[in-house]
Amino acid sequence: MNKKLVTALNDQIKYEFEAAFNYLAMAAYFEEQTFPGMAHWMRLQYEEELAHANKIFDFLSDRGEKVNLQALSKPVSNFKSPLDAFQKALKHEQKVTALINDLYALAVNEKDYPAQVVLQWFVLEQVEEEKNAGDVIEQLKRIGDDGPALLQLDQQLAQRQPEA
Ligand code: FEO
Repeated sequence: MNKKLVTALNDQIKYEFEAAFNYLAMAAYFEEQTFPGMAHWMRLQYEEELAHANKIFDFLSDRGEKVNLQALSKPVSNFKSPLDAFQKALKHEQKVTALINDLYALAVNEKDYPAQVVLQWFVLEQVEEEKNAGDVIEQLKRIGDDGPALLQLDQQLAQRQPEA
């Protein structure tokens, strides 16, 4: 495989693990604040990010390339409110979307067809990731300071199932 693409895919493994850590920090925040449904939602996101990192890990391995795991940066762990946490989650997803798009462009440039196919999955996954966080943000904005409505949303988010 092209060296630049291998390096960029290894960097993406790090970004996916960092995303996992960010979500885990958010899960800890929601546990502290006693919003078990939102903590559950964040914990599922954490698991999804681990799966994303492992998907790229397996792809590099299957192509006979070296997987280079890197040090992770410390996640943000202070949030002003549930809305603030979900807004930070969306911002991070938007950053990941830009990285995935750059990776895809590189795979196209290098005419690496298997990488393009794997990255197409990620391109669509990012649409879903941004929508998921965005939907909760819209609900939180509508709820504002309405305590009972916030608890109802928490109960709703507790129902989230892992991706099939
Ligand atoms: Fe791996 Fe949330 O994108």
